[in-house]
Amino acid sequence: MFPISFGSDNHSGIHFTVFSALQKVNTGFCPAYGDDPLTQDLIRALEALFGGECEASLVITGTGANVVALQSLIHSFNAIICAESAHINVDECGAVQKCTQARLSPIKTKDGKLSPDLIAPRLLGDRDQHHSQFKILSISQSTEYGTLYSVEEIKTLADFAHAHNMLLHIDGARLANAAAALEVDLKTMTKDAGADIVSFGGTKNGLLFGEAIISFRPELSSEMRFYRKQCNQLFSKMRFISAQYEAYLDKDLWLKNARHANAMARLLAQRLAEFKQIKITQKVYVNSVFAILPKAWLVPLQEKYMFYTWDEARNEVRLMCSFNTLEEHIDDLINSIKELAES
Ligand SMILES: Cc1ncc(COP(=O)(O)O)c(C=O)c1O
Repeated sequence: MFPISFGSDNHSGIHFTVFSALQKVNTGFCPAYGDDPLTQDLIRALEALFGGECEASLVITGTGANVVALQSLIHSFNAIICAESAHINVDECGAVQKCTQARLSPIKTKDGKLSPDLIAPRLLGDRDQHHSQFKILSISQSTEYGTLYSVEEIKTLADFAHAHNMLLHIDGARLANAAAALEVDLKTMTKDAGADIVSFGGTKNGLLFGEAIISFRPELSSEMRFYRKQCNQLFSKMRFISAQYEAYLDKDLWLKNARHANAMARLLAQRLAEFKQIKITQKVYVNSVFAILPKAWLVPLQEKYMFYTWDEARNEVRLMCSFNTLEEHIDDLINSIKELAES
């Protein structure tokens, strides 16, 4: 156990409200697999949050949310365009390829963001029977670099995808952080912007586990529940995910947690910027800070705090904040950095 970690937002624990919601439903007996009244109500509440005329499903993990959402929309002969840095490309051990049998078509970006200019060259030429057929444009909001798409940019990408007979998928493991940073509601950022399917993460923002998939094209994703089962994402004691999401939606806990995590990252960046030896490499929009540190500082700091080296060649690290990052944690890290800077 590390007393303080900037390694990932899922190094955090469970928000106490979510924890007590789990205890509240831990009485008596209840139908399984989502056939319980709590899950039915929660599904309706999630659908309302995203503007209605959509279909919400609960799964266990973020990787599962991506796999199940994508699988519900494609065939093995399809291809999925994503940023090279996308979680589905880098950090899911090929889960999307294994389960969908479709091809990922990653595109290099400077900051994790795709744009029509970057994608268009990939679509050139005939795509006849010898080629995988592009079907999905997948983006992450916020991105793996902590950058954000504005609502306008999402609209542009959705229009672009639709004009090319593709669908827009949003990996929203950190959708809450994006909504908090952009100060827009979830409906505006997804449904109104033309997204076809999104995930709405919980685990990184205060839940023990649980992610939601929202399909705005239920007519296309109608087989999702079968893929959810096949992908081991149908949790039998579903009421324990639903109870967490109920607490997460109540009084906008999801938004408060995300705002706090984002604010902590801004504070951290501000404090790091006081050191001339440190270079912040990405503008801080959400809950991550990317920074280049002197090489000699990495080992002593990583002995005390958990965080990842993002780019070893440049000594670039990623520092993540979460709903339970405290100002004292940041003070602690900054004091350790001060000692290194003065030694
Ligand atoms: C952008 C993004 N998507 C999906 C996931 C997958 O989540 P999980 O680890 O719960 O499978 C992560 C986790 O780090 C992530 O950062």
